[in-house]
Amino acid sequence: MKFKNKVYIITGATSGMGRSIALEFAKEGASLMLSGRNKERGEKVRTLSSQKNTSHFFSGDLSLELVNKSLVEECMTTFGRLDGVITNAGMLGLGNITDLPSEDWHKTFQINVHSVYYLLKYSIPEMLKNENGVVVINSSIAAFKSFPNHPAYCASKAAAVALAKQAALDYGPKIRVNAICPGPVDTPFLHDSAIAFPDPKSAVEEAGNSTLMKRLGQPEDIAKLAVFLASDDASWITGCSYTIDGGILTAG
Ligand SMILES: NC(=O)c1ccc[n+]([C@@H]2O[C@H](COP(=O)([O-])OP(=O)(O)OC[C@H]3O[C@@H](n4cnc5c(N)ncnc54)[C@H](OP(=O)(O)O)[C@@H]3O)[C@@H](O)[C@H]2O)c1
Repeated sequence: MKFKNKVYIITGATSGMGRSIALEFAKEGASLMLSGRNKERGEKVRTLSSQKNTSHFFSGDLSLELVNKSLVEECMTTFGRLDGVITNAGMLGLGNITDLPSEDWHKTFQINVHSVYYLLKYSIPEMLKNENGVVVINSSIAAFKSFPNHPAYCASKAAAVALAKQAALDYGPKIRVNAICPGPVDTPFLHDSAIAFPDPKSAVEEAGNSTLMKRLGQPEDIAKLAVFLASDDASWITGCSYTIDGGILTAG
C-alpha cells in the first residue's frame, strides 16, 4: 500500500486515463479528491475507488481559476491534508492555425495549461505544510511531435512540460514535479482526435500499428506510471518528462 494515509487530487477522473489513475491509486490505499464535469460518471468512479479508502467527487469546469481554488479548498475541508496532485483533465481543440477560432485556442489553453497553473498555485502551499508533496502532470507526446490540425493541443502540451520543469526547479526539494507524455491511448479522447487526420476511419488503428509494440496504450499503462512517479519509489526523480508511447516516437 504505497499511498496509505495519503490524499491526492486527480483531475479528469471521470473518464479514460484519469479514471484508471483513480482506481490504481485507490488500490494503493490513497484517499482521493476526484474531479470532472460529468457528475454521473464521477459518482461511478468515486464508488469504484472507495473500496479500501475514502473518495470524494468534486464537479466543476477547471478552466476557471476559482473552480481550481475551490477544488483544493474542498480537499482540505474534507481530508485536512494534501499529498499530491495529478493534473490530467485536457481537451483537443482541433483545427489548423488559420481556421481554428481564437476562442477554441483559448479554451484549449485554459484547461491544458491555465488549469495546471491554477491547481499548482493553490495546492503547492497546502503540500508545503507537510514539507512534502508530488505533482504529476499528464502532458502528451504532442509536446514533442506535431500532428495534423493540432496546433493548440501541441503548443499547450509543450507548455505543460515546461511548467512541470519550472515547478520542480522552484519548489524542490520539498515538492517533486514530473510530466507524463503518453502516445496514443485507447480512450474517448483518442477516437475524437481521428477527425483531424486525412483518413479518420483508419487513424486510430494506424496509431496502434505505428507503435513498436503494435498496439494502442491502455489507460492502465499510464496509471501505473503515475503511481510510480507519485510514490516514494521515485523519490530522486523530479523535473522529468516520461514518454510512454509504445515506442511510437522512436519509430518516427
Ligand atoms: N488518449 C490519448 O491518446 C492521449 C494521449 C496523450 C495525452 N493525453 C492526455 O491525457 C489526458 C486524459 O485524456 P483521456 O485520453 O483520458 O481523455 P478522456 O477520456 O476524454 O478524459 C478527459 C477528462 O478531462 C476532463 N475534462 C476535460 N475538460 C474539462 C474541464 N474544462 N473541466 C474539468 N474537467 C475536464 C473530462 O471530464 P468531464 O468529461 O467529466 O468533463 C475527462 O474526465 C488529457 O490531458 C489528454 O490531453 C491523451
